[in-house]
Amino acid sequence: MKVGVIGAGNIGQAIATQVLCAGHEVQIANSRGPETLVDLVERLGPGAGAGTIKEAASQDIVAVAVPWVHLESALSGLPDWQGRVVIDANNAVLPPDYKAADLGGRSSSEVFAQMVPGARVVKTANTLAAEVLAGDPVTSVGRRVLFVSGDDSEAKDKVGGIFSEAGFKTIDVGDLATGGRLHQFPGAPLARSLIAVD
Ligand SMILES: NC(=O)c1ccc[n+]([C@@H]2O[C@H](COP(=O)([O-])OP(=O)(O)OC[C@H]3O[C@@H](n4cnc5c(N)ncnc54)[C@H](OP(=O)(O)O)[C@@H]3O)[C@@H](O)[C@H]2O)c1
Repeated sequence: MKVGVIGAGNIGQAIATQVLCAGHEVQIANSRGPETLVDLVERLGPGAGAGTIKEAASQDIVAVAVPWVHLESALSGLPDWQGRVVIDANNAVLPPDYKAADLGGRSSSEVFAQMVPGARVVKTANTLAAEVLAGDPVTSVGRRVLFVSGDDSEAKDKVGGIFSEAGFKTIDVGDLATGGRLHQFPGAPLARSLIAVD
């Protein structure tokens, strides 16, 4: 599979690293264009490439990792997502002090889902610090845990499968409205770094 990654910062790079570890390809994009990603693509290694946001968004699975305040502009003007799988790794926090954004009572992934109409949204990869997400998920005491939520089982299986192949323990916690709330940052009970001992 080739996974599009929109956002080439800390989390976008961490996701790209794990997708490559799992044996898939990556097309990564930022706000400034593929020519600014030459060094990053070289560092990521075989299987990595850069593209425009539109090109990354056209892959069957697309991860989005952009600061909350820039999400709307990053995702505007793209064609309908037509059932493609979109990973929401974002947390609804605002600069400069990372206070929680006002979501009007909705979960952050429900708000995110409205920005990607027609997509099958899967929330994951939002609970680990970027350097932890980028590192080896297999520790001396067990595997690092990634929670997965979404309204479409097949989409959750595909996304969970990629992170499992990379070595994570993935745990399905339900749909976006209920499960998503359990692992959204800040404040949710599962928004923390956990290791599964199994
Ligand atoms: N950092 C963490 O440890 C952590 C952990 C869990 C979840 N998260 C969440 O992950 C998301 C990304 O965080 P990050 O730390 O990776 O951010 P970051 O390092 O600041 O990277 C942000 C990326 O988003 C791109 N971007 C910004 N505005 C854009 C736009 N209008 N169109 C297209 N791309 C745009 C930037 O591209 P340019 O460089 O070209 O501007 C950059 O590649 C956030 O929602 C954050 O809450 C972060």
